[in-house]
Amino acid sequence: MKELFGKVAFITGAASGIGLGIAHALARRGMKIVLADIEKEALEAARKDLEQRQAEVIAIPLDVSDREAVRRAADKTIEAFGKVHVLCNNAGVGRSVRLDEATGTDWDWVLGVNMYGAINGLLAFVPLIKSHGEGGHIVNTSSLSGLRYSPDRGQGIYSTTKFALIGMSEALASDMAPLGIGVSVLCPAFVKTQMPHSGRNRPDRFGGPLRANRRPDDPLLVGAINGKEPDLVGEYVATGIEENQLHILTDAKDRHLVEARMRKISDAFEYTARRDAREAAHK
Ligand SMILES: NC(=O)c1ccc[n+]([C@@H]2O[C@H](COP(=O)([O-])OP(=O)(O)OC[C@H]3O[C@@H](n4cnc5c(N)ncnc54)[C@H](O)[C@@H]3O)[C@@H](O)[C@H]2O)c1
Repeated sequence: MKELFGKVAFITGAASGIGLGIAHALARRGMKIVLADIEKEALEAARKDLEQRQAEVIAIPLDVSDREAVRRAADKTIEAFGKVHVLCNNAGVGRSVRLDEATGTDWDWVLGVNMYGAINGLLAFVPLIKSHGEGGHIVNTSSLSGLRYSPDRGQGIYSTTKFALIGMSEALASDMAPLGIGVSVLCPAFVKTQMPHSGRNRPDRFGGPLRANRRPDDPLLVGAINGKEPDLVGEYVATGIEENQLHILTDAKDRHLVEARMRKISDAFEYTARRDAREAAHK
């Protein structure tokens, strides 16, 4: 989407961190903004902040894992602004736990928000974006943890969801291209946000708020404190929408981490090629 001015964006997880950074960047380009988030006080503060920046903005309290609630939020978006052009499936949570110790509830919560939240967004908003024929864009927030696994941090469930969002986004890009709707998948490395404390927003049906007792030297905590500014990441997203970038990356220095994973896959292909050649020679 080259021209964002006057168009409408719906952003989940918009009360803080990267979601709020995206809202700032899109508001700066003159978009009308719908902020959606489960954390009501922070959501109201974010709405006021956007209003002070002269943005046309509404805020909708929302648990993205609740499909009906996402559909109602889509209705409210249309009531307020008539159309919607940009969907940012950004709400996300993490649970630091080894996979051999994870419970069903751990899986249900993190998949419910990170994966089903994005799926619910597509179900509710893609028909609306298609309906006006003016084009649009969908951004799914994945992670560098969706491009490679970071060992020893208990991020197995989180990585499962973030890998899935990359596959979904690449498929979506191919399905949406003929409709003039672009797709991006945002894969940030560390960003200075409340992410290490995402248990604060765990809904009651997934066990209620969860306090993570992180040591001060916890790599996730240290990473977040030293991470990129959310407003800068918001700018990357806005540019990614304007330039229809499929993969939006935040930190070039991390390329080697993804390349190391790709090398392992490439080595596995080499192994298979040698085996196939041996088998062919014996026929
Ligand atoms: N911060 C990082 O280093 C980093 C790195 C890679 C990816 N990400 C991803 O960025 C996205 C945004 O996270 P952030 O870093 O800004 O953290 P954050 O905790 O500051 O923001 C996440 C927002 O999502 C909201 N949220 C949580 N559960 C929700 C639910 N069920 N329904 C609606 N909203 C809900 C929270 O209230 C919060 O406002 C997430 O998808 C996260 O996985 C973050």
